[in-house]
Amino acid sequence: MSNPEDRITAAVLERMQSTPDPRLRRIMQSLITHLHAFVRDVEPTEQEWFTAIRFLTETGQICDGKVRQEFILLSDTLGVSMLVDAINHRKSAGGTESTVFGPFYIAGMPERATGEDMAVTPGDAALIHGRVLGAGGAPIANATLDVWQTATNGMYSGQDKAQPETNLRGKYHSDAQGAYAIRTVVPVSYPIPTDGPVGKLLAATGRHPNRPAHVHFMISAPGYQTLVTHVFRSGDIYLDSDAVFGVKQSLVVDFEKHAADVLGRRYGIETPYYEARYDFVLERTP
Ligand code: BEZ
Ligand code: FE
Repeated sequence: MSNPEDRITAAVLERMQSTPDPRLRRIMQSLITHLHAFVRDVEPTEQEWFTAIRFLTETGQICDGKVRQEFILLSDTLGVSMLVDAINHRKSAGGTESTVFGPFYIAGMPERATGEDMAVTPGDAALIHGRVLGAGGAPIANATLDVWQTATNGMYSGQDKAQPETNLRGKYHSDAQGAYAIRTVVPVSYPIPTDGPVGKLLAATGRHPNRPAHVHFMISAPGYQTLVTHVFRSGDIYLDSDAVFGVKQSLVVDFEKHAADVLGRRYGIETPYYEARYDFVLERTP
């Protein structure tokens, strides 16, 4: 007769057999198999297991239903978000690579004209521009580019009560040639929130919380798969150690310094500024 330690996994798997939805049944049976194997491997003390339960409880309690989403942070810092991303975007046709969505997107931000400045907080002026293309190189007109970025204090609107909610956020559109242009400030590296359980876990495991400087994009157009990605600033010291493993080399871009010139003036920039050029390539919906 097997002992209880041996019987419990089989008993739970057996109970799951009654799950009507076959996908849910497969997910739950796999979860139980791996979770029980993990517990057998680690052999937690009851105190350690209680610590784990408290950690998950606090992870839920600190979420605010808006931009504070500690479970996304947990998934991101454990590399799970990027693994899910890789599994779901096995791109074949040369589309721009995707990366983590993160917890700081806010829906319903203002529609912005080509080249409109989305920053009301100060920083070094920047122009991010290029084209939105199909995988064959044809321009995609009227694609929507939903953009978000931190202020130079490293915080997003929504996190930082001093910023208007629309600061460094907005929806741009490509023109008939697929061209887009965003006036903003140069992005900076910043720490993900460290005042909650995920921050404590990073500290306990000897990890830093920083992300290299980037601007977020969610790009959509009818007939194309929505692309969630970032443009990272080249030269950032955290490119090789992003706290959420989100960097892909193809997304790293130079922000090249210019004296005031005709291109900048076209968008109302009268000072020296930094120019980043990037073409996004969307894949057709299957
Ligand atoms: C972000 O880039 O906004 C982000 C992504 C993952 C975790 C935290 C922040
Ligand atoms: Fe970010």
